Parts: sequence; C-alpha cells; structure tokens
Amino acid sequence: MRQAGRYMPEYQVLRKKHGFMELCHQPELAEEVTMQPIDAFGVDAAILFSDILVTAEALGFDVDIVESKGPVIANPVKTAADVAKLASADNAMQNLGYIEQILKSLSARLSGKKALLGFAGAPLTVASYAIEGGSSKTLAETFKMINQEPKLFDALMEKFTELTASYIRMQVNAGADAVQIFESWARMLPADLYRERVWPHLQRLVEQCSDLPILFFAQADTELWEDFFTLPVLGFSVGTEIRLRNFKKAYANKLVQGNMDPRWMTLSPELAVAETQRLLEDSRGLTGHIFNLAHGLLPITRTETVQAVVDCVKRWKV
Ligand code: CP3
Repeated sequence: MRQAGRYMPEYQVLRKKHGFMELCHQPELAEEVTMQPIDAFGVDAAILFSDILVTAEALGFDVDIVESKGPVIANPVKTAADVAKLASADNAMQNLGYIEQILKSLSARLSGKKALLGFAGAPLTVASYAIEGGSSKTLAETFKMINQEPKLFDALMEKFTELTASYIRMQVNAGADAVQIFESWARMLPADLYRERVWPHLQRLVEQCSDLPILFFAQADTELWEDFFTLPVLGFSVGTEIRLRNFKKAYANKLVQGNMDPRWMTLSPELAVAETQRLLEDSRGLTGHIFNLAHGLLPITRTETVQAVVDCVKRWKV
C-alpha cells in the first residue's frame, strides 16, 4: 500500500521542490522518499517509491500527476495506429532502467535488514488510464473499447501484459523481495465481463511470474475474489470486503495481507490501536499474515497514529 506520500511532512518538503514524476525518475530522490517511512516509523518493509503508470510512460504515454486532478495521460489510445506507435516491450524495459538502478541501490542500502517491495499495475488497471486519459469514475471509455473494439483492447492488453511480466522479473532480479500486482479497477467491470475479457491476460501475466514472489491486490467484489484466489501467487492483499476471520475459514493455506481500513489512520492513536488489536486477534491461526492497510494512506492521515499502530503490531505476540 502507498506508505510514503502526501500525509508525510518530509514528503511534502520534497514535493514542493519537485514534480511527482521527477521524484520517481531521479534515483536519489526516489530512494530518499522510499526510506522516509522506514526512518520515521520503523516499518518492516520499504516500498519502492514509484507509480503504476511508469510502465505506460515507458511505452510512450505522456504521463503527469496533476495537483487535485491525479494522473493525466495526454495521448490516450483511440485507434489501432495509437497502439502500433507504442514502444516494443524491449525498448520500454530499457526506458525503465532507472527503476532497476533504484532497486539495486535500495537493496544494498537495506542490506537484508528490511524487506524491499516492488510493484506493478495489472494490465487492465494501467490500460484503463491509457484509454481514459486519466482517472475515471466510470471507466466508460474502457467499457466501450472492450465491447465495441475488442481487437484494439486485446492488442493494448497484450502490450501491457508482455511488458509487465518483464518488469516484475527485473524488479525481483534487482533485489525486490516481493512484487505486488495492483488490480485496483477490477470492481469497475461486471464479474462476467472481467472473466471473459480481462482474466485471460491477467492469468497469462501471473503464470509467467509463477516462480516469483508475487502478492496480488485487487479492489473487487467477493465474487471475483473467488477467481483471484485461484491464481498461483505467494499471497493476497485484500481490502476491507473480506474479514480476516472469514479468510481463515475459507482460504486457510494462503498468505494474506491488507484489510485495515486506511481511514482509521486519520483518527486518534487510541481508536486506531483498538482496531489494530481487533484485526490482529482475527488473524490468529492464519498460515501467513502481513499486517497492512486495505488501501493507500490518505493525505489527512495522522503521523502519530501511524506510529502507534506500527508500535502495536511490533509488540504483538502471535
Ligand atoms: O509508498 C508509496 O507511496 C509508494 C507508492 C505508490 C504510489 N502509487 C505513489 C503515488 C503506489 C504503490 C502507487 C500505486 C498506484 N498508483 C495505484 C494502485 C494503488 C491504488 O491506489 O489502488 C494507482 C491506481 C495509481 C495511479 C495514481 N497515481 C493515483 C490514483 C494517484 C493519486 C491521485 C490523487 O491526486 O489522489 C497517483 C499519484 C500518486 N502516486 C501519489 C503518490 C504518493 C500522490 C502524488 C502527489 O504527490 O501529488
């Protein structure tokens, strides 16, 4: 889950001086932001500071993060010619060489004392930005392309699938202890449409990485989660829709992380710690549990609450 970011004063200081993509691109800055939550709170894992849209950028999309608007892509895909113009996966991987450099350097810096986590967007989630031209509340353009221009949609999805498989492997080779795949927008499609048109691409991606330590995150209804739980991955990163005590009953042999609603982190330390203890109680008996949030930290997060939750988890006796 996003752990650095706008709630941290240290991040805001850097962000005032640099654009978001500049923070991602410049190895020294990206490393500094990656280390900020480690230094501030003593969490067990460092999450590469980057964005899922760097794969789109590497293919030739013009990506920017605009204040109060979020991600914007100036040249969204409209036609087959737009897909034909994109870089090859090999060239896109060269464009992502800076990420390899950042991970290698972070891995040396952490020297096995803290885990290092990489991540990538799933093909649908990144492709939706490439189709919509930015964040969309409806994914209407994506829905239109899937249904009216299935070949164009498949060509774009294949492009992202091929690149993302190489990108994930590179991250592990460069020192990431695990890589999380984000399928944030699965919930924007009906489960049957997802199964028919998106699942084959996702499955191909995950199967190509089945020898690697992959964590799979999705925002999806529980019906689609039943399908996701069959993916050959190391673990699942669940939102608030699945309670840990139910997870224990249904999927006892799987590793799980996530589940704490990030809004708790905007409340007092006492309230958030009480919820943390409840979740930790619920997690007893799980095969593997990584304490984490259900989604990224909100800008109004209270740092003293983050600290209290981290301390509570570290003191917990399983
Ligand atoms: O520890 C970290 O902060 C690491 C990194 C991280 C970021 N983005 C940094 C970021 C991660 C894991 C992501 C993933 C990401 N990016 C996802 C998947 C996770 C999810 O939220 O479901 C998605 C969908 C994106 C696309 C994206 N990038 C969005 C929706 C936004 C936020 C837009 C907004 O204005 O709220 C971004 C920008 C972004 N990515 C920020 C950060 C810290 C905020 C940028 C800023 O400083 O202005």
